[in-house]
Amino acid sequence: MRPLVIAIDGPSGAGKGTVARVIAGELGYRHVDSGAMYRAVGWKALRDAVPLDDDAAVAALAEAAAIDVTGTQVTIDGIDVTRAIRTPDIDRAAAGVARLPRVRSVLVARQREMGADGGIVMEGRDIGTVVFPDADVKLYLDASPDERARRRANDPAHTGVPAAVADVATLLTQRDEIDRTRTASPLYAAGDAIVVDTTGKSVDQVVSEAMALIRRQF
Ligand code: DC
Repeated sequence: MRPLVIAIDGPSGAGKGTVARVIAGELGYRHVDSGAMYRAVGWKALRDAVPLDDDAAVAALAEAAAIDVTGTQVTIDGIDVTRAIRTPDIDRAAAGVARLPRVRSVLVARQREMGADGGIVMEGRDIGTVVFPDADVKLYLDASPDERARRRANDPAHTGVPAAVADVATLLTQRDEIDRTRTASPLYAAGDAIVVDTTGKSVDQVVSEAMALIRRQF
């Protein structure tokens, strides 16, 4: 069987991470969370006091960084930032650096290298539109703002999340607005992506829908 490239995009809390991990496990593929790369760069920029809107400086910092997002652990320059990158401060920092075109081109080049031989499930915002426009399968997962906020509020990986789901919803909506309206690679569903509304669906349901689409490609 040919090793496929599977692109999964969508806003925060749409279920990309869980679905991508399960699909990659079933297929024996590598799972890459591209958002974790933007988060790691945002973390390093904050640590080094590099202004989050300085494209050249943040791109240089990203270029010089060794970022590893293999499996469940995220490291940058050998430092384990798995937990540190899931905080509201890093939500903001990552959305900031993700707007910068030069930073994106550094990370997109690395993402393409990782997918060069196929056998990969990559999740993000621009995977089906920019990183792998020729991906074998493109999924765009979405869910209602309330459901996305509930999932985020209950996600143990994220710390410092407001207790009230309504406050989480406000923060998610603000951040999604940045991702959707930025000029560099905004979030949208590729014309040939299959849009799946995950509202009210279990992980199993979404995974079986996705697996049915994927099997058609073999
Ligand atoms: O998926 P996430 O919330 O961990 O992503 C963190 C930030 O990075 C978020 O603002 C969206 C952005 N991002 C992006 O611009 N492109 C990607 N391929 C992945 C994430």
